[in-house]
Amino acid sequence: MTDGAVTRTRVGIVGAGPAGLMLSHLHHRAGIDAVNVDNRTRHEIETTVRAGILEADSVRLLTETDVSDRVLREGHAHEGIALRFAGESHRIDFQALVGESVWLYPQTDVFTDLADARARDGGDVRFGISDTRLIDLTGDRPAIRFTDADGAAHEVRCDVVVGADGSHSMCRQQVPETHRRLFAKEYPFAWFGFLVEAPPSAPELVYTHSDRGFALISQRTASMQRMYFQCEPDEDVAAWSDDRVWTEMQSRVAGPDGFVLREGPISDQAVLRFRSLVCEPMRHGNLLLAGDAAHTVPPTGAKGLNLALADVRVLATCLERALDDGDPDALDRYGLLALDRVWRTQHFSYWMTQMLHSLPGGDHFDRRRQVAELRSVVDSTAGATYLAEGYTGWPRG
Ligand code: DHB
Repeated sequence: MTDGAVTRTRVGIVGAGPAGLMLSHLHHRAGIDAVNVDNRTRHEIETTVRAGILEADSVRLLTETDVSDRVLREGHAHEGIALRFAGESHRIDFQALVGESVWLYPQTDVFTDLADARARDGGDVRFGISDTRLIDLTGDRPAIRFTDADGAAHEVRCDVVVGADGSHSMCRQQVPETHRRLFAKEYPFAWFGFLVEAPPSAPELVYTHSDRGFALISQRTASMQRMYFQCEPDEDVAAWSDDRVWTEMQSRVAGPDGFVLREGPISDQAVLRFRSLVCEPMRHGNLLLAGDAAHTVPPTGAKGLNLALADVRVLATCLERALDDGDPDALDRYGLLALDRVWRTQHFSYWMTQMLHSLPGGDHFDRRRQVAELRSVVDSTAGATYLAEGYTGWPRG
């Protein structure tokens, strides 16, 4: 309901990325009004290259709630990954171990599907806004104030505000330091990511440990691939010619099994810095945090988007209980339920990261120990099953 510069809704969502849009989509299906605002334009979100792996439950959420089934037509089911170390690849067979697959389907496509679904269903999504401020979060008239894309002041009055505004969350900053605790871990390395115009080098993802550091070979289409290699956090993209990138990548994946890494023109180079972060609690008054706004994980294992969607699934149910049934405890239950998965995923992403990356200052002992850890994973059904469970996603609680 819009009255001049004021819109009245039940759930005001800061963020119109996959988490924010999935939440308003689920609310729409439950008959709950919601408004999304985002300071990026749709074009900006759609053209930012992001990770590409969806857990089976994330795919089910998209298809079973009628967002879109494009993932089933254009995505690729992967029934395993390769762990590559000491110059040889070892397959982890997800289907054989846990009966699940993951899907290669870029986050930007998930976003496009959700944005199209919101447009199809008449959703109220405001892209390209600025000057966002949150009002009265602990009172009973919370609101989001902002300047809309045409420069006009606007206010969204709601019952609850959801902060789904990503890792640099403005919403998280609204929780007074005395009311929140941040658990954080910095990593002394980053990823250099790039797109390659070439056919795939492998049918599934190859996570590589080498004496020169981590490398990841991922895919996109028959003619476009996505790759990453471990670099310094302050690495200068301009210092990396295509030749230099290929020399580095080739040396990291080389081995006696004769693995062939297919080269091609490189584009979209970027250094991706990361950290582990959890903000507890995930609620402050009538503000609830979801996805990267509440927690970030290192990219190893591609959990960020999947964890955000898992949050939103729990949050949608808790908000329905709170708003439709007046259940006074439902808002607190959200964090209690979500944090169990958040911390398991923190551990999984941290574990994959420390097992596969070279630690600065690390010595021969560290490298030998990592290879022994990798061997314990690939040679043991118990070890491989743990990886397969975490990678494909734990069952929903
Ligand atoms: C991709 C990114 C990841 O972080 C990962 O673990 C696997 C794949 C990707 O962009 O394809």
